[in-house]
Amino acid sequence: MTKRCQPAGGGVKRHVRVENAGVDVRVVLSAVNNEIGDRWQLERRLAGGLNEGAYLLSRPDGSRAVLKWRASEPERLLGARERVEAARARGWPAPAWLAAGRAPAGGAWVVQEFIDGRPPPQLNDLVAEQMIEILDLQASMFPAAAGGWGQWAWGVVFEDWHDLRDRVRSGVPGGRQVVAAVDAIARACSPEPLSSRDLVHGNFNLANTIATPGRLWVVDVEALGAGPRAYDLAEVLLVAVGEGQVTESAAARLWGYGAGLDRRELAICAGSVGLTMADAFARHDRTDEGAAAVPGMMRALEQALALAGA
Ligand SMILES: Nc1ncnc2c1ncn2[C@@H]1O[C@H](COP(=O)(O)OP(=O)(O)OP(=O)(O)O)[C@@H](O)[C@H]1O
Ligand SMILES: [Mg+2]
Repeated sequence: MTKRCQPAGGGVKRHVRVENAGVDVRVVLSAVNNEIGDRWQLERRLAGGLNEGAYLLSRPDGSRAVLKWRASEPERLLGARERVEAARARGWPAPAWLAAGRAPAGGAWVVQEFIDGRPPPQLNDLVAEQMIEILDLQASMFPAAAGGWGQWAWGVVFEDWHDLRDRVRSGVPGGRQVVAAVDAIARACSPEPLSSRDLVHGNFNLANTIATPGRLWVVDVEALGAGPRAYDLAEVLLVAVGEGQVTESAAARLWGYGAGLDRRELAICAGSVGLTMADAFARHDRTDEGAAAVPGMMRALEQALALAGA
């Protein structure tokens, strides 16, 4: 019996609610300043996060940084540090981690480089090209790894880990259609394990990127781990098509890139992302947005299935 485990690289934030509402950011910040002997001050919560959130810090000298923390399982966050460093050393455009440590009441924090820019308003050809460059950098980063995001996708699609099908059926209008599309993928694809050689961001979508002149950055990287990079491509596509953020030609470029990856893996990853994404709409009380996203998600799931059969 396969264990229902989450990727080695971190939590799957979409389905495991991280409860840190009870911890005040000022308490965390004073622990940070004590530990590293610094004088970071709180500016504001950055817009965009639905989960733990990210906070902008500044110093009297005008420098800025970002504070994130999680209230539980500190080893998940702390364990990501080495992987972030290794990926950055290869040119992966994630913010540098300036410091990390254990937070009061059992959590962990990270202070990271602040990237001064905005998520691109639309996934157009330029952004698609930048994303493809990022995915290429992720190839074969962990030649000897096992498990990770591929194992998670496999478990969700073939063994219904975390009972996501039931939750999606009952929690999102149109959820039954999503479940049926994932079942079709499970029937069409052979259930061999997925590969684990690449780096996977684990939450790669337009909202977790920041555009600066000449460079697209990826943020919210704490769940990074091993797996097939098709997982990140599947998430980019399902979110962007579902939320109507992608131009037709950019979508075609991304699907073209996917056709050159292992198509069975891409379809299985798409199925897993479809369920976790639909479940997230339900958990965050965004059922109207979820209902609006279902038609696009269905198109993306059908396209992934068609590619796998081609
Ligand atoms: N290092 C950074 N530099 C600049 N902005 C950042 C940085 N990290 C995060 N942000 C901004 O803060 C927002 C929230 O951060 P992040 O996505 O890491 O938090 P989250 O709550 O985990 O989000 P999610 O709900 O997507 O899981 C991001 O969407 C991004 O716009
Ligand atoms: Mg985010």
